[in-house]
Amino acid sequence: MSTSDKITIHTLRKRKSADEKFAMLTCYDYPTAQLLSAAGIDTILAGDTYAEVCLGHSSTLPATMEMMVTITAAVRRGAPQAFLLGDMPYLSYQASIPEAIHNAGRFMAEAGCDAVKVEVDRRLADLVAALTRATIPVCAHLGLKPQSIHQMGGYIKQGKSAECAQRLIEDARQMEKAGASLLLLEGVPDEVARIITEQSELPVIGIAAGPACDGQVLVLHDILGFQAGHPPKAAKRYTELHPIMVQAFKSFRQEVVGGTFPGPAHSTPMAAEEWLRLKDRLSSSTSG
Ligand code: KIV
Repeated sequence: MSTSDKITIHTLRKRKSADEKFAMLTCYDYPTAQLLSAAGIDTILAGDTYAEVCLGHSSTLPATMEMMVTITAAVRRGAPQAFLLGDMPYLSYQASIPEAIHNAGRFMAEAGCDAVKVEVDRRLADLVAALTRATIPVCAHLGLKPQSIHQMGGYIKQGKSAECAQRLIEDARQMEKAGASLLLLEGVPDEVARIITEQSELPVIGIAAGPACDGQVLVLHDILGFQAGHPPKAAKRYTELHPIMVQAFKSFRQEVVGGTFPGPAHSTPMAAEEWLRLKDRLSSSTSG
C-alpha cells in the first residue's frame, strides 16, 4: 500500500467539496474487512452494534472497551487503507474527560483507528473539545443515540418537531465549533439532515437520515440478510445470505451423517510405503 492510497479525514473532506458521496458499512472482523476492501468500501465503522448482531444482546450497552478494541484492531488488519472509525462503547467516555482520553487513545494506538465516534449533544461539547485537543479526531453521533435508549424511551426518531429539529441543528453547530472532525446523524428527518449537511463544513454520515448526507452507513448484517426477519426500515437488503448459509450447513450435516464427507478429495492418506510399514509394525507388535 502506498501512503497515497490511505483514506484519511482529508479524503472525506475533499469528497464533500467535490459532492462525491461515500458508502460506509459496519464491520466486526478481519475476513469481512478484507471483503469490504475488495468491494471498494473504504470507510468502515467498527460499531458497537457488534453487541447486538454478533453477540445477540438486545442493545449496544453491553459492548466493552476490551471487545471493541479487539474487534476494531482485527478490522484494521483486514482493511489497512480504509478510513476506520472506532465506536466508543457505553460509559467509556461519559464518566470523565481523562478516562475518555485514555480510552479514545486506545482506539487510536492499539486498534489503529482514524477517528473515534461518541454519542453526544451540546452537554458533551467539552468532551469533544478535550479529545480534539488530545489530537484524537472525533465523529459526533447526534440524533437517535442507541446508548441513550433508556433516556429516550426507545429507538425513537429525533428532531421531529420544529423545536427539537432546531435544537439538533444547533447541537451540530456546537460540535463543529468544539472541533469535531465528522458528524453522524441517526434517525433524524431528511430535511433536518439536509440543513445540517449543507451548513456544515464537516463530512456528515447518515443512517436513517435521508439522502442529503455526504456518506451513508448501514449495519452489515442488515444489508446481507444474515438474520431471518425484516431489517429496519431505513436499511436495504442487497442479498439474502440466511437461506444460503442454512442450506450450506444442512448439506454439511447431511454429508457427515451420510458418510460422504470427507471423501477422497478432502482426505490425506499415508504414503503407501509408510502404511505398509505401519501394518507390519502393528502385526509384529501384536504377534510378539
Ligand atoms: O454501532 C453502530 O453500528 C452504529 C451505527 C448504527 C451508526 O453506531
